[in-house]
Amino acid sequence: MTVKVARRFLRRERRPLISDGLEGVIAARTVLSDVDGAKGRLVIRGYAVEDLAGRARYEDAAHLLFDGFFEDAPSDLAPALGAARVRAFGEVAALDEGLARRDAVEAMRALLARLPDGDDLPTALLLVAAPAVFTPAVLRVAKGESPVAPDPALSHAADVLRMTRGTPATDAEAAALDAYLVTVCDHGLNASTFAARVVASTRAGLTSAVLAGLSALKGPLHGGAPGPVIEMLDAIGTPANARPWLERALARGDRLMGFGHRIYRVRDPRADALKTAVRKLASASSALPGRLAFAEAVETAALQILREHKPDRPLDTNVEFYTALLLEALGLPPSSFTCVFAMGRVAGWLAHAREQLAGGRLIRPQSVYVGPEARAAA
Ligand code: CMC
Repeated sequence: MTVKVARRFLRRERRPLISDGLEGVIAARTVLSDVDGAKGRLVIRGYAVEDLAGRARYEDAAHLLFDGFFEDAPSDLAPALGAARVRAFGEVAALDEGLARRDAVEAMRALLARLPDGDDLPTALLLVAAPAVFTPAVLRVAKGESPVAPDPALSHAADVLRMTRGTPATDAEAAALDAYLVTVCDHGLNASTFAARVVASTRAGLTSAVLAGLSALKGPLHGGAPGPVIEMLDAIGTPANARPWLERALARGDRLMGFGHRIYRVRDPRADALKTAVRKLASASSALPGRLAFAEAVETAALQILREHKPDRPLDTNVEFYTALLLEALGLPPSSFTCVFAMGRVAGWLAHAREQLAGGRLIRPQSVYVGPEARAAA
């Protein structure tokens, strides 16, 4: 039975309609973040995302999300998170070259899966530290270099960049990565957060919930888009080629990466927060202003073509477009972009998992059977 036939059947039977992709379904109450798709607003625990990004360190955003969900969370998470990075580094010994040469998310997921489950603050901090420590190690070992141990005295963002490159980051670079990690730290009931909440609702433990989140994030329709954004920009090459290239992509039935969103019907506010961070970084770089101007030209062409292609469906720039530019400017390779997304979103997954444990029931929706009638077994 096709979905259309199943819908007709359900209407006739006066049973609730299936919501494809659970669109419009409300499955949780949360104090963590509010995504207003019509107005293009994202509020994280009472703060507009554009006010948090560029002002708060990632440690502060994680504290904001954890507040009330871990009773023993200190007001400054930075020292405990630094110590957790050192603990996470102990797991890097399990990383061999074969694993490091796999897809970076798969390698990071394998290391994460080694961590024990638990529901307490030390487990949560280890899980926040893990993507930040494992990603640089995976990138370096894949290139035949030794992993660099964390420096617990540095800020989380500065340490990530130092562990990746082996040399200290500038303050401007650390601030740009902080702006990114804060911008993506939470975003309502997105696919990965929902996956994390489902697993948390079974009381499996925080590591299991984070693994579920990471697995959902990996897909190109969610957190896997920024790598393909760079591929798209590189393939377009010049502003004059933007329109013909994008038209050909749509004619093939491809989706333009970095555009469209399930909830936002206007521009994703995170795109602007990140564009501001890229602009700040561009003022201290010689190559970035040209790349930014080119990306803006591609964005303008893409928005125009999407309007012509789908006049009834507002498709605007999403977070991934400027994520790609920002992470590229920080010298991070496209293969690591989804891992870096996970570095930011992990605090959101953990806070949602704790919120689900505190007040939620087991998440167990129903399906409608549209297969053959029961028959006698032969
Ligand atoms: N390029 C071209 N067409 C698009 C795009 C796009 N980027 N996004 C949606 N459409 C079309 C789609 O083909 C469909 O057309 P039709 O009805 O003729 O089949 C229509 O718009 C509705 O799309 P949908 O798949 O029903 O919408 P959705 O809410 O399920 O999809 C989305 C949301 C993000 C998966 C989608 O917009 C997309 O695939 N975008 C490209 C990938 C991307 O940038 N992902 C990052 C998302 S933001 C990070 C996050 O918060 O997760």
